[in-house]
Amino acid sequence: MKTFKNFIAGEWAAPATGEYFDNVNPADTTDIIGRFPLSGREDVERAVASAKRGFERWRKVPAPERGDVLRRVGDLMTQRKEEIADLMTREMGKPLKETRGDVQEGIDTAYYAASEGRRLFGHTVPSEMPNKWAMSFRRPIGVAGIITPFNFPLAIPTWKMFPALLCGNACVFKPAEDVPHTGTVFVEILLAAGLPPEVVQLVHGAGEGVGAPLVEHPEVSVISFTGSTETGRIVGETCGRLHKRVSLEMGGKNAMIVLEDGDIELALEGVLWGAFGTTGQRCTATSRLILHKKIHDRFLGELVDRTRALQLGDGRKKGTDVGPLVNEAALKKVERYIDVGQAEGADLLCGGQPPIGRKYSKGHFFEPTIFARVEAGSRLEQEEIFGPVLSVIRVSSADEAFEVNNDVRYGLSSSLYTRDVNLAFRAFNELDNGITYINAPTIGAEAHLPFGGVKQTGNGHREGGWEVYHFFSETKVGYADFSGRLQRAQIDNYLGTPD
Ligand code: UN1
Repeated sequence: MKTFKNFIAGEWAAPATGEYFDNVNPADTTDIIGRFPLSGREDVERAVASAKRGFERWRKVPAPERGDVLRRVGDLMTQRKEEIADLMTREMGKPLKETRGDVQEGIDTAYYAASEGRRLFGHTVPSEMPNKWAMSFRRPIGVAGIITPFNFPLAIPTWKMFPALLCGNACVFKPAEDVPHTGTVFVEILLAAGLPPEVVQLVHGAGEGVGAPLVEHPEVSVISFTGSTETGRIVGETCGRLHKRVSLEMGGKNAMIVLEDGDIELALEGVLWGAFGTTGQRCTATSRLILHKKIHDRFLGELVDRTRALQLGDGRKKGTDVGPLVNEAALKKVERYIDVGQAEGADLLCGGQPPIGRKYSKGHFFEPTIFARVEAGSRLEQEEIFGPVLSVIRVSSADEAFEVNNDVRYGLSSSLYTRDVNLAFRAFNELDNGITYINAPTIGAEAHLPFGGVKQTGNGHREGGWEVYHFFSETKVGYADFSGRLQRAQIDNYLGTPD
């Protein structure tokens, strides 16, 4: 079995702890991908010290040239797309068509970042005084701590690291324990594309051993975290105490609303993809379906038939629609919510258990599950499950649907199926989410638009698109007075002050 290493101070290095963990395939837990470092504080210390040196060098490289490195990263990911997709599916389970999409999202993010190297716009504005210039521009911050989840093992690290690097920061990267192999290959590609070695550090391990020391380290000036709302709260509290810039991307309880005038066929396809794609393990997953009473029964009858027909299995096998959950803890969490739903009196229409059969015996599989008659306000309706469980709520009007959509503590994405154009545009304003889709499910954000949510999904920052470049850089303002005399702002003026 292969033993993998961290990448610290410009070389592949064994962890100071001497400890390792096994990384297994969730579709077949007897398939061990490798042993990965269970690193500790000392490894983080070394990584940060090296990243500081990397930063001193990298910040001086002109941004267009930094962009050129990221363009080469995009080229290499394009060449290796199939291979990366396969190792990602082996590591975290989602079907190959989805891991190919994950790589593509990384490629798109790379080329966007490459071109941003020739923009990174600031402003030039008129000064109050003659012969004086006033402008703003972007400066890098320093060492960025990057903490990422398992569900998009490549795309999410690229969302964070490409803008961080393009802006001139150095990165210390801690991938989720479930996907260290993808993280390793990602760093190999960055280095092969010509990123100077100390600009990136890879430290494998757990939240307590690596994540916490990274967040607490005084020389790590900026943290970008995607994960649970519970962990995000601790990260946010720590960063608040240390006056550290932090971007948090956390939970969701996203709803699709289908109204009586919606295109039913389109909505059926949409909800199957939104709810059971990635086995429901997306922060954008459609975990609630809000149906107008006039179409409720008809829609559900058809949805249950189609859900039962989904092929559950190994994501690397042809014909698989839904892969396993990522690990045993995820499976147990889903099982607990099945009990919660039943105790709350919701109707279990399909699924609700691990599938039976030999081909499922070695993996963390769970049947796609639908609960109907879910009460607005119940735990099943309010809490993030992160698995293939859809809760259906029946409503009598669009306004009631909007209210149910908004009455959760999360606010990532929402979706509305209607043919009423006025209502569709009203929904953009009324639905309390960072992203709203009309006639499309709650998943599928594109790399060049801002991504993030309101309320307890985030902390006001956005990834993706142009906004993330503001997060990873400091605004600097420059005034240049070329009048050759003292000009006092707010006091002197050109025309002279009338008495
Ligand atoms: C996530 O689940 O954390 O919009 C990210 C989507 C994907 C990204 C999801 N492009 O579903």
